[in-house]
Amino acid sequence: MTVPGFLAAKEAGEPLVVLTAYDALWAGLFDAAGVDAILVGDTLSMVVQGHETTLPVTLDEMIYHAGLVVRGTSNALVIVDMPFMSFQVGPQQAIANAGRILKESGATAVKLEGGVHQAETIRALSVSDIPVMAHVGMKPQSVRMLGGMSRIQRDREQLLADARAAEEAGAFAIVLELIPREIAAEISSEISIPTIGIGAGPDCDGQVLVSLDMLGLTDGFNPKFLKRYCDLRQTVRDAVSDYAADVRSRRFPGNEHSHE
Ligand code: KIV
Repeated sequence: MTVPGFLAAKEAGEPLVVLTAYDALWAGLFDAAGVDAILVGDTLSMVVQGHETTLPVTLDEMIYHAGLVVRGTSNALVIVDMPFMSFQVGPQQAIANAGRILKESGATAVKLEGGVHQAETIRALSVSDIPVMAHVGMKPQSVRMLGGMSRIQRDREQLLADARAAEEAGAFAIVLELIPREIAAEISSEISIPTIGIGAGPDCDGQVLVSLDMLGLTDGFNPKFLKRYCDLRQTVRDAVSDYAADVRSRRFPGNEHSHE
């Protein structure tokens, strides 16, 4: 998958499949299963590092994990989130930090949260040949202003303005997070770049989920939009308690696992 391939998929009406990953092992599995893009999301901060929000993860940590993901990926487009305060200072800061992400990790594109207010930065990145995915609707990096993470964004005029501004500034795609289905449908039909929804209904041009959520590895997070495709948490718990019971009862290792 390439950046032009992303745009071609929208023109062809082919839904884009995006999942987050944070290391080579999972990225390799998702890539082999045929996802179109892997997002090294700043959800790294929460689902891997154990923080309450996406704010603490650093640029160096994002670059490190992005490098792992790139090493595990052969076909999917790798997109890396710009973490909190790595682009908000202004376009020059954003170019320097996005440049580091692409050069040091080998990823193809960056994602940043914002529409109208980040249009100047999106333009500066895209004219510097750094492909940018925008992210509008519920922006997790705005958690302190929003007063919480899972706030559905319903201001139609603002959402449309954000999406139009991101497209006009040169973004190659836009994540729409936690917005009403009708507004996501309207944005998706109005703009020519792909919309990738999370909690934005079925009419987006593609979908993204946090992989560890959809695999049932995370706990205590059950928003309406999330479909858990398996319960790996239970599978892992069962496997580890079987292993522990085998070791404690000396059933493992058996003869078949022992050397002569
Ligand atoms: O950081 C992330 O994983 C994201 C997705 C939820 C879209 O931004």
